[in-house]
Amino acid sequence: MAGLMEAITSLAKRRGIAFQSSEIYGGLRSSWDYGPLGVELKRNVKDAWWRSMVQLRDDVVGLDAAIIMSPRVWEASGHLEVFTDPLVECLNCHQRFRADHLPGVHAPQSGHEEDETTVDMHERPTCPNCGHHDFTDPRNFNLMFKTHMGPVVDEANAVYLRPETAQGMFVDFVTIQSVSRKKVPFGIAQIGKSFRNEITPGNFIFRMREFEQMEMEFFVEPGTDEQWHDYWIEQRRRWYLDLGLREENVRLREHDADELSHYSKRTVDIEYRFPFTDWGELEGIANRTDFDLKQHEKFSGQDMTYFDQDRDERYHPYVIEPAAGVDRALLAFLIDAYREEEAPTAKGGTEKRAYLALSRELAPVKVAVLPLSRNERLTPEARAVFDLVKAEWMCDYDDAGSIGRRYRRQDEVGTPYCVTVDFDTLEDRAVTVRERDSMAQERLPVANLVTYLAERL
Ligand code: GAP
Repeated sequence: MAGLMEAITSLAKRRGIAFQSSEIYGGLRSSWDYGPLGVELKRNVKDAWWRSMVQLRDDVVGLDAAIIMSPRVWEASGHLEVFTDPLVECLNCHQRFRADHLPGVHAPQSGHEEDETTVDMHERPTCPNCGHHDFTDPRNFNLMFKTHMGPVVDEANAVYLRPETAQGMFVDFVTIQSVSRKKVPFGIAQIGKSFRNEITPGNFIFRMREFEQMEMEFFVEPGTDEQWHDYWIEQRRRWYLDLGLREENVRLREHDADELSHYSKRTVDIEYRFPFTDWGELEGIANRTDFDLKQHEKFSGQDMTYFDQDRDERYHPYVIEPAAGVDRALLAFLIDAYREEEAPTAKGGTEKRAYLALSRELAPVKVAVLPLSRNERLTPEARAVFDLVKAEWMCDYDDAGSIGRRYRRQDEVGTPYCVTVDFDTLEDRAVTVRERDSMAQERLPVANLVTYLAERL
């Protein structure tokens, strides 16, 4: 299925969805830029998550915490000590690799994102670069990006770019609980950048060093945590399916005991059938217990308990954490939506049509307005139609090239509706609306256009 990935990355680059960062300098393998259509798509993924996790609920509130937090946070969370991957160097070509990603190496987990990994290097793995078999012993390499706060570059001023957004929710737990006046069970949600100095980034936007997460920490009474965990696993699985991922391409995978993160009692991953890894992690849903709140209480000296008025007692809530990646979700939606088919042409033949069957909610552009040709009588008419729809949805106006080619361009980026303004429009005040997947066309009065689209979008 390598062809599918090539089609996706080429489409993403050609149409400016996502491409290498700093490309004029040869690119930076692990950083990617989202162009005009990518920005819209990414925003739609984040908005869909926020709508389902915050807006439609009365038990989850939002947070936008700083990326650079006190370095004590990472001592307390355990990241300074155990957020490592095993790094080895080939003794022949001196390339560096993540030991548990080398072919032939046994590691207790695959596709695992976080926490210390132990590997057995006695199975003589092969260097993917030069084919030799001799490596240095694995050494634990901390994945956090380190920098310095202020003008003095010394250890006392060392700070880290956050490797997960979650810690913001833990350190602000008491403040958010009191200002929101929420009672347990309730959650705090955040979307934002995280940074990990991955040894082997790759597979387009699947594994990056700078990426975005959508995480929610749901605080519950101890003893109710297992039911809440099951509840969130199902909620999150549904979210991907409701946004269009095909059920056969999504599965749940229970972490084995030896791959659980240091904070987790149980973790279930939602995996997607990525063409390059077979199954790869989209999201992890962990039962983090009271580990983080207790650690922060220990390291900060602040009381991190919750006062339960109904029970008249204080306790450390347990935490259920659905942790998703924006970029990975976006990649899965792109892959799943990609379709190729033979479509009829105006001249009676057929030609290959590639289109993105993205859900209406995710499509970067909802409506394209296309005057039949660039013409002084049609342009004002088409502009007026554009003004009508752009107030409601993200729209595109395109009058360059043949109408067939313009349809294909919109299909390729998943635009659900194209509205064509032709010479008859000048007489009958009607336009032709073409639907992306069926290519069915319908003629309707301009006066009904917004209502027609609103019913379908
Ligand atoms: N707070 C828990 C946590 O961060 P994780 O499984 O390490 O858990 C959550 O990360 C999600 O973030 C992953 O399921 C994945 O979607 C995304 N993610 C993690 N590392 C990533 C990377 N290097 N590039 C892109 N996305 C990544």
